[in-house]
Amino acid sequence: METNFRALGHSGIRVSALGLGCWAIGGEFSTPDGQPLGWGRVDDEESVRAVRRALDLGVTFFDTADTYGAGHSERVLGRALGARRGEVVVATKWGNVFDERSRVLLGSDDSLDHARRALTGSLRRLGTDYIDLYQFHVSDADPGRGAELRDLCEEFVREGLVRAYAWSTDDPGRAAVFGAGAHCAAVQHRLNVLQDAPEMLALCEGEGLASVNRSPLAMGLLAGKRGAGEALEAGDIRSAPPAWLEGFSAGGAADPEWLKRVHAVRDVLTSGGRTLAQGALAWIWGRSALTVPIPGFRTVAQVEENAGAIGKGPLTPAQLKEIDGILGR
Ligand SMILES: NC(=O)c1ccc[n+]([C@@H]2O[C@H](COP(=O)([O-])OP(=O)(O)OC[C@H]3O[C@@H](n4cnc5c(N)ncnc54)[C@H](OP(=O)(O)O)[C@@H]3O)[C@@H](O)[C@H]2O)c1
Repeated sequence: METNFRALGHSGIRVSALGLGCWAIGGEFSTPDGQPLGWGRVDDEESVRAVRRALDLGVTFFDTADTYGAGHSERVLGRALGARRGEVVVATKWGNVFDERSRVLLGSDDSLDHARRALTGSLRRLGTDYIDLYQFHVSDADPGRGAELRDLCEEFVREGLVRAYAWSTDDPGRAAVFGAGAHCAAVQHRLNVLQDAPEMLALCEGEGLASVNRSPLAMGLLAGKRGAGEALEAGDIRSAPPAWLEGFSAGGAADPEWLKRVHAVRDVLTSGGRTLAQGALAWIWGRSALTVPIPGFRTVAQVEENAGAIGKGPLTPAQLKEIDGILGR
């Protein structure tokens, strides 16, 4: 296998070993009662420049969702890709309901009707007539409903609207329900040096699925910028973390315990001339050859730094063992 590329399962789709996550570039959106769900304000022109810089640096995989910025992330990504859409693999997600005008998330909908409606909306916003990897965003949905949606995804494949699909979930049982489908190519799940996922990686190995890794930088903690007590702007989800968001406390301060663990592994991660963020990505590649981390970004500089990790390769098995020892795993 070429080290800079990954196969998406048995789909025949090939992606760069590094993808990019397009949540932050969606800009602000919130729950009906004002809980921020985005990463604060963004500069769309900088987002477009960042996506195009990524293309020039060899990144060919972009992950978004219909709900990021209530449709805005898909629009910005579609605009940035423009005529180069055919050069890349676009992954998006469905399962949430939102109002594009007020940028409010209204809830989730795992019905079959909604999936088809959502697909039409994503195609329109992205300005494309097919999705490469269509992902179910409701991580804890009923597995029986998951099986029905998997079969619907097979229909989308037959209709030429979708090339492959995945469930975005941290539960290997649910991932396996989708994995039974002929064109299921991946699982999207959380994986970073502080939050390992051995059971999910075992499932990916067993089923021949790609492991698409969200939160590879622990939402910025592994990029080394978030000192304890450092303020975040009000529209940033990390400033008022919902219960499921780990590593940050009210007000957006990084959890001191997490910072301690980042500090403890910093020397190993920054070996070989890597920055901390590059080391965090290298740990993921070292963990399994099936992994495709999708770090978030909002600037050209972040994309350049993260794409620069590809050429430095994975950490070695000895370094992974050393990190496990330091973290008491
Ligand atoms: N399926 C799901 O439910 C789900 C859930 C979460 C995420 N995702 C996907 O996974 C992607 C990434 O995960 P994530 O958003 O949780 O966060 P992440 O990738 O762990 O962290 C991304 C954040 O780290 C900071 N950063 C990135 N590169 C950096 C660099 N080189 N130097 C300094 N800071 C840097 C940026 O934030 P600041 O500049 O603001 O610090 C960036 O937004 C998302 O964009 C999304 O596509 C999916």
